[in-house]
Amino acid sequence: MTQSALPPGPRMPRALQTAIWFRRAQWMMAECRKRYGETFTLTIAHEGTWVMLSDPEDIKAVFTGDPRLLYAGEANGILLPILGEHSLLLLDGAEHMAQRKLMLPPFHGARMQSYRALMTDIARAEIERWPSGTPFRVRPRMQAVTLEIILRAVFGLDEGQRLAELRVELRRVLDRLTNPRWVAFLIALGPERIPQFPPFAREMARVDRLIYAVIAARRAEGNAGQREDILSMLLGAEHEDGSGMSDRQLRDELLTLLVAGHETTATALAWAVERLARHPDKLERLAAETRAGEDRYLKAVVYETLRLRPVISLVNRTLKAPMRLGGYDLQVGVKVVPSIYLMHRRPDIYPDPERFLPERFLSNPPGTYTWIPFGGGVRRCLGGAFAQFEMEVVLAEIAARTPIGPARARPERVYRRAITETPRHDAEVILSG
Ligand code: HEM
Repeated sequence: MTQSALPPGPRMPRALQTAIWFRRAQWMMAECRKRYGETFTLTIAHEGTWVMLSDPEDIKAVFTGDPRLLYAGEANGILLPILGEHSLLLLDGAEHMAQRKLMLPPFHGARMQSYRALMTDIARAEIERWPSGTPFRVRPRMQAVTLEIILRAVFGLDEGQRLAELRVELRRVLDRLTNPRWVAFLIALGPERIPQFPPFAREMARVDRLIYAVIAARRAEGNAGQREDILSMLLGAEHEDGSGMSDRQLRDELLTLLVAGHETTATALAWAVERLARHPDKLERLAAETRAGEDRYLKAVVYETLRLRPVISLVNRTLKAPMRLGGYDLQVGVKVVPSIYLMHRRPDIYPDPERFLPERFLSNPPGTYTWIPFGGGVRRCLGGAFAQFEMEVVLAEIAARTPIGPARARPERVYRRAITETPRHDAEVILSG
């Protein structure tokens, strides 16, 4: 039977739902599923009506649905003043498809090997600085690693004044975006008023000056075709009509890649270390297999980390036409929300779902619609292959430095840092030996 009303959900006022959501989103999702079933409705301030989904068939229907009727960019509007109107994250419909087509080739899985040496060197140099015998937090270390990797692999920068300046300026902007108070302030100001806020305008002007200088220098070099970095490939990319990307588009996409790819990968790596440090048998197996030049277990560790501790808990699409999901006829304007968190905890797909068990992926490869840390369909994370490869390279280097142990007795809780779900104490560990 089809119902046209919204699925059930908590009846408490929107302000209260919002308050609980911002403090304990994953707990709230789990409780609602227990109480209301696979499909339920939440009402969150600034977000509107969310219909949360965790049934694989519903999620497949959303990911394979017509992107002209399921918008994803709209919901990211708050990032407009930073990323700019051409950002892939903000576009929808035909514009999104055209821009995505242009940006896909440099992120193709087969290209990733060319970044191996670069990623290994950066990881090794960082790990060599880690102290022995004193506790330290892994997440900031991983932020340094992923920022450096993006600056080199995406921007194609080598050591020098320009890299040093960009590192400092970008770090400042990125830190703001992971500061929950700053993000709450941006939301309160709204995307129209943010650019008029003087400290914000000054910071963005400094970042823009540096990025435009990199673009101009690369255009002037004129040898983009021979370089491996992503900016050079984007400079050479052409639409079907032969036109390329403007400087403004390039600037917006470079910032998008940085914002989308840096914090997320750093957090995923921090979780992998946090989990491995508490499972010495798995860390040992990883170290032994990596030393033997095998990568099967390494890949399984990456899959399992992203399953059990997804860095982003959900993705959403705004309906531009009515859609029937989970037995409900949903109306235009409703946001349908595949829950990454709930999908990854389905006991029918992942028995004993709370356990960290990389072995579960040795015999079963991850399913397209049941392992969804990178979302899905035409909006699936552009940098998914890049992130997975980066995690593999960095974890292989870390595993070589065993034994790593946890610095705290209890497993770290999940802590929401603006957008990403991070380890509460930044994955505090201790190296012995
Ligand atoms: C572990 C690391 C990462 C995670 C968990 C992650 C997760 C995600 C998710 C959930 C989405 C939204 C997908 C959807 O709506 O269906 C997304 C989109 C995106 N990600 Fe990632 N991401 C990661 C790393 C990266 C990296 C390294 C880059 C680039 C260097 C990147 C670039 C992007 C871009 C450009 C989009 C927008 C795609 C579009 O709208 O067409 N991400 N990511």
